[in-house]
Amino acid sequence: MSAVVIDGKAFAAGVRARVASHVARLSEEHGVVPGLAVVLVGEDPASQVYVRNKGVQTVEAGMISFEHKLAADTSEADLLALVRALNADPKVHGILVQLPLPGHVNADLVINTIDPAKDVDGFHISNVGLLGTGQKAMVPCTPLGCLMMLRAYHGSLAGMTAVVVGRSNIVGKPMAQLLLGDSCTVTIAHSRTRDLAAVCRGADILVAAVGRPEMISGDMVKPGATVIDVGINRVERDGKTRLVGDVDFASASAVAGAITPVPGGVGPMTIACLLANTLTACCRAHG
Ligand code: GUN
Repeated sequence: MSAVVIDGKAFAAGVRARVASHVARLSEEHGVVPGLAVVLVGEDPASQVYVRNKGVQTVEAGMISFEHKLAADTSEADLLALVRALNADPKVHGILVQLPLPGHVNADLVINTIDPAKDVDGFHISNVGLLGTGQKAMVPCTPLGCLMMLRAYHGSLAGMTAVVVGRSNIVGKPMAQLLLGDSCTVTIAHSRTRDLAAVCRGADILVAAVGRPEMISGDMVKPGATVIDVGINRVERDGKTRLVGDVDFASASAVAGAITPVPGGVGPMTIACLLANTLTACCRAHG
């Protein structure tokens, strides 16, 4: 059997096009243009690539992109002052502080200083609590993108068994909350899980978000399962740098019913959902 490959790139293009058409209507009919502020501290190369892509796609969607690039030794006080200024700026509807932050900065404090209504990452403790209690929240972009693809592929997810491998605040935990909200039976597995392979083999939906290259192999996948690969890992192979996921695509795609590739799966959906969250924040701000 060979799995259906879920085309996240095409899916994301569709989401961005829908966002762009809403943005155009908003500015024509109401004179409002959504604005997204992205704050990058330091020069982490992967973060610089993400921030550049975010900026380009924000502008392509018809929104305003505000980029704040700060030196790696920026003080916590200065960063907090910038976040407060962005909170108070009516042209800014969404604020994203790129993670990871340098070690001398308290990342939780910075995130929890963002106005929850502008927290398009959904990382503020208020949004985490709203999501966990099934209330209207800003939802983290990567798990939201995964959920959108799962719903598009399956329709209802109710009653399905879902295993999320990875317990990060950015992906694993909110992913589990979203799947629970769609009435899946959810397990969060992690590095200390006993017999991970057996746990994974119980999953109708298997989400891999561990950050370990090709850790999930075909023998850990239930025949016909849907596999969502959140990993983006750079590996050296045959003298070349390649991007691989947390799933061993070759062996997993021989067993799964459907699978997301890397690249071109979950990755493009993250920025598309960021744009969708920014549009939502703007619409809520303007009633
Ligand atoms: N670093 C890696 N992923 C993310 C994300 O989704 N949001 C932010 N702010 N930083 C990240």
